[in-house]
Amino acid sequence: MKRILGIETSCDETAVAILEFGKTDVKVKKNLVSSQIPIHRKYGGVVPEVAARNHVPEIVHLLYEALGKGGMKQIDAIAVTEGPGLSIALRVGIEAARVLAFLYRKPLYGVSHLEGHVASAWLDAKARGKWEFPLLVLVVSGGHTELVLMKDFGKYKIVGETRDDAAGEAFDKSAKLMGLPYPGGPEISKLAEGGNREAFDLPRPMMKDESLDFSFSGLKTAVRREWERVRKLKGEGFESAKRDLAASLEEAIVDSLVRKTLRAVTKHRVAGVALVGGVSANTHLRTRLAEALKAHDSTLGFFPSDKKYITDNAAMIAAAGYWKSGYGKPSDWRKMDAKPEMGF
Ligand code: KG4
Ligand code: ZN
Repeated sequence: MKRILGIETSCDETAVAILEFGKTDVKVKKNLVSSQIPIHRKYGGVVPEVAARNHVPEIVHLLYEALGKGGMKQIDAIAVTEGPGLSIALRVGIEAARVLAFLYRKPLYGVSHLEGHVASAWLDAKARGKWEFPLLVLVVSGGHTELVLMKDFGKYKIVGETRDDAAGEAFDKSAKLMGLPYPGGPEISKLAEGGNREAFDLPRPMMKDESLDFSFSGLKTAVRREWERVRKLKGEGFESAKRDLAASLEEAIVDSLVRKTLRAVTKHRVAGVALVGGVSANTHLRTRLAEALKAHDSTLGFFPSDKKYITDNAAMIAAAGYWKSGYGKPSDWRKMDAKPEMGF
């Protein structure tokens, strides 16, 4: 049995978790997340300096609450997000982890936030039982849109990525244009439920392109153009056109993601597909991808991120730290620093 303390401060969530790993089971003993979304909402997006300043008192409270009476004695190793993310925000979690590693002589694992998101799909007990390599992972978040070929724990190869905006950014930026609050993804998704997905003909760039890359920046421009027309409407006409635009936008993003994922499945002959990152909370994407994969090959495993661990949390970081304790070496607490541009 191994108990890992996970720490995450890469963006606007301060998070601490304790996971207990047995031979085959995983118990999430603590999973504490303090979100700053209401704070950043007034700025329309995350302000790095504000995020870091708020992580400082929060991380101390959360560590105190998570560790409780057992303190650090119950912990075998520490996992912390090294990157990617906001440099000064990452540093808050890293400094806390380094101090604990040094004072209590615990092995410290610096992990990638992206690998953490992948682990969020593996945390589901059913997924763990069927998890097989090679696995294709679709990572869709506010900063990333990547198709990753996972050959083993710790072995990742990016086979497709966005050439411009991430899928989450496409949701957020379009939502902002339409006067919706941050983060825009859930807002668009809520509006889209009552809209007509075919009402607006929005672009699906790079579909003819043989590559597995995405492009979402054109969507924003198209949404801006349509919104100029919609915003002049009145009453129910306006409300219904707004729902239709949200639905058409969601459809365009989901359609691009599903089509490229299917193409990658065919090209790389994988055993299963995992769907992770903040945008994997999108119900339309989860349903459409599940249906498309089933129709393509009913033997493929499909592992969407466990709903409890979709948005940034430290349980996924502790799980990635556990993987790393199997395939890698502990990091040196003396040298650890934020890696804002880190990949997998
Ligand atoms: O992974 P995440 O929590 O943070 C990053 O590491 O970026 O992802 C946040 C992104 C935001 O762009 C947010 O709008 C999007 O995930 N998101 C959604 C939904 N819930 C969150 N996008 C579409 N539909 C949703 N239901
Ligand atoms: Zn994230």
